[in-house]
Amino acid sequence: MVSEELRQKFLKFFEQRGHKIVASSSLLPADPSVLFTTAGMQQFSLYLSGKKDPIADFGSRHLVSCQKCFRTGDIEEIGDDTHHTFFEMLGNWSIGEDDKGYFKEGAIKYALEFLVDELKMDKSRFTITIFKGENNIAKDDEAAQIWLKNGIPAERIKEFGKEDNFWGPVSAVGPCGPSSEIHYDRGEEFGCGNEGCGPSCEFCKRFVEIWNLVFMQYYKNEKGEYELLPQTNIDTGIGFERLAALLQGKKSAYETDIFLAIIEKIEQTSGKNYEQNKKIFRIIADHARSSAFLLSEGVKPSNLGQGYILRRILRRVMRYGKLIDLKTGFLVPLMDLVIDKYESVYPPLKENKSIIKAGAEEEEQKFEKTLRSGLKKIEEMIELKH
Ligand code: SER
Repeated sequence: MVSEELRQKFLKFFEQRGHKIVASSSLLPADPSVLFTTAGMQQFSLYLSGKKDPIADFGSRHLVSCQKCFRTGDIEEIGDDTHHTFFEMLGNWSIGEDDKGYFKEGAIKYALEFLVDELKMDKSRFTITIFKGENNIAKDDEAAQIWLKNGIPAERIKEFGKEDNFWGPVSAVGPCGPSSEIHYDRGEEFGCGNEGCGPSCEFCKRFVEIWNLVFMQYYKNEKGEYELLPQTNIDTGIGFERLAALLQGKKSAYETDIFLAIIEKIEQTSGKNYEQNKKIFRIIADHARSSAFLLSEGVKPSNLGQGYILRRILRRVMRYGKLIDLKTGFLVPLMDLVIDKYESVYPPLKENKSIIKAGAEEEEQKFEKTLRSGLKKIEEMIELKH
């Protein structure tokens, strides 16, 4: 299943079940306390807190979206199978539930229906995690019971603490709640074989987290306390790239249709092989994609905030390019491929094509200049010594 088909299937599945499709918000959030949009729920934060009415603004309390996200916390991990700076998150929401809400029961039912009935995934490979209780917040027995009722055996339901199974808030304060995750067991051959290997194993990637269901019932306040929200909400998130990789039988999204053209182009231009240079290729592909999106949203390389992150990403991609002998100017053709791949989903990429290319070229030239003057200084120092 090509990635675009997955995106459409997800949106349609929830639309057919009474959800309103909401377009992705910008990568640059309205909330100035956070640099980037890192989760699908961010544009709905005030609705989840009960401060705004989703029916007034969207015509429904049940929403679905495919959200552009950008995370920098894992930048050093880029190059492995699962991390990206830019990625997309599929999600569905039930906001400010009354008796028409679907809360845990409905969120779990829909998740299984989409994965098993729609995508034909093997349910016996799912392992579920639930919140085991911490910080005066009770263990989520309710979720465990619902999973059991829906045919997940008790030995495939694992309990974790706050670090793994309590989500949010996105900034210091905001809506949050216990979560329940669906992990896909790729099989023993991917495992470490250790006793206790399971979701979030620190030694292997046998289990892949595919869907996070957050039961938003709390609000973390300025004092760091968890207050009960006046309403219950459902907030869910699927890492689009991860699910696409699983459905295409690939170990990593870098090997799916999402990145194929970019990886092939790097092979052609460098004359090097992806298999032997995986980490470098993946970093270049990831950074070309994420910097194209940031430039399209009007971020300019600088030494501050979002601009600093963009500059870091651009300089990183240029440095890694040199490791496989890519010549200055290699980035823009990769960005063309990013635009080709995404312009139908995110039309501003096409409209901003010249801004994206000019931004990349300018930074590339500045970086070259900095490198040249650095090298000149080193040469002078060496000469002085002799
Ligand atoms: N907010 C949760 C997450 O980002 C679920 O959407 O994982």
